[in-house]
Parts: sequence; C-alpha cells; structure tokens
Amino acid sequence: MPEILLRIKRQDPRSKKDPAPRWEEYTIPYDVNLTVLEALFHVQENHDGSLSFRYCCRASICGSCAMYINGAYRLACQTNVKHLDTNVVTVEPMPHLPLVKDLVVDMDEFFAKYEYIEPWLIRNSPDPEKEIRQSPKDRKKLDMPVDCILCGCCYSSCPSAWGEDNYLGPAALLKAYRFEVDSRDEAGKERLPLWSNERGVYRCHTIMNCVEACPKELNPTEGIQWLKKAAVRRRLFGRAK
Ligand code: SF4
Ligand code: FES
Repeated sequence: MPEILLRIKRQDPRSKKDPAPRWEEYTIPYDVNLTVLEALFHVQENHDGSLSFRYCCRASICGSCAMYINGAYRLACQTNVKHLDTNVVTVEPMPHLPLVKDLVVDMDEFFAKYEYIEPWLIRNSPDPEKEIRQSPKDRKKLDMPVDCILCGCCYSSCPSAWGEDNYLGPAALLKAYRFEVDSRDEAGKERLPLWSNERGVYRCHTIMNCVEACPKELNPTEGIQWLKKAAVRRRLFGRAK
C-alpha cells in the first residue's frame, strides 16, 4: 500500500465558528516503518499546521501520545501502521475525558487524583547512613506497577470513572499498590484512608477494561484487588503483607 488514508476526529470546543466535532481525511505516503505519530506529523507539516496532538519521547515511555486508534487505546508513537493491517487509520482523542482540541484531552483531573495518593516514597524512620537495600525478591514485586507511564488509557476506559467523578481510577490506585508493596516505604498506614474507601478501591467493580486498554500490558485490576485484601489484613493484623 503506497498510501494510507488517515481519518482524524477534530474539534475545537473553544471556537465559536466551528465547535462541533468533524472528521477530516488526509492521504499519507506509506512506508513500512510509518507510525501513527509520524503520520500526524505529516499532516501537521504538509496539510494543516493547526492539527493539535501531544507527544514527547517518541519511544513509548512518556505516555503523552495516548489516543484512540482504530477502535483501541494505543500510543501513537508505538503504533506501526503496518501492524494495523489496513490502509485506513482512524484517530480519535481518548474518549470520556474533557476535550481541549483535536487529539488533546484535559488530563488535569487524572493527575490531581494521582497526586492525591501521595505517589512518592515515604519513610518514618531516621534517614539511613547508607542506601536502603532491597532484596531481588522484593524488587520483583515492583516490576509490574513501575512500568506505568501515566498515559491515562486505563482511566479513560474505566466505566466506574465515567459514572463517578470522584473515583480515583486505575492508574492512581495502581500507584498506591506500587508503594504498598515497596519494602522501603513506611507510609502504608497513613496512605490507607486515601484509597480504602468508596472513592478508592471499593469503586472498582473488576470490569477490567483497564487491563485491555493498557498499552504497556499492565494489570491495574490485580493491584486494586491486592489493595482490597491489604485493607482487610491491616484491620485484622495491623499489617498489609
Ligand atoms: Fe497507562 Fe497502563 Fe499506567 Fe494506566 S496502568 S496509566 S493504561 S500505563
Ligand atoms: Fe511518549 Fe508516545 S511520545 S509515549
């Protein structure tokens, strides 16, 4: 296929002239390494410089370019057009999030909820003289949650988050899990009231859209289920693990 047809859902909600969503189509020269992000650059450079989208690393580690591509949550920089197996590529902003413009959504609430969970290592003990060592077995527990790149795909895909503005959502709760299982963190008891409530883990109904949506193949539901059990263990035995 020497060319592909790129269909982009565009809208500028702030424009008085044309606030309604519309589909625009662009023909893009194809090559075997073309990614969806590169196709968007082609539009910006050759057809319409006003097309808005986010990106940064171009290496699937910053999470900025999360979009809804051919009916699935994907990172535009990680999505090779060849692997979509079609010459029609449809790109939409992540659904269920407030739109800023074209493919850019408002992530303020997502990051406010992430911050709320206090996503940093907290120690109550006096500062050690040397680094805090961690066994390979304990480090292994972090393998899954540390790979989260905060792209927001899980949050956008979660019906519990659509219906309940207050719900912290899968990414923030996965981060709470990440620190609960970290052998060096000592804030488990203090963080517990932040996530062990109706705004937190009990709002998750294990629909598991987050697992399907995650472009890093992580499992936020597994972390949330672990937290639910940890809350019970803390109440019964005074410790999460
Ligand atoms: Fe993105 Fe996956 Fe992290 Fe959710 S868990 S923010 S989908 S990387
Ligand atoms: Fe960073 Fe795509 S540009 S993940």
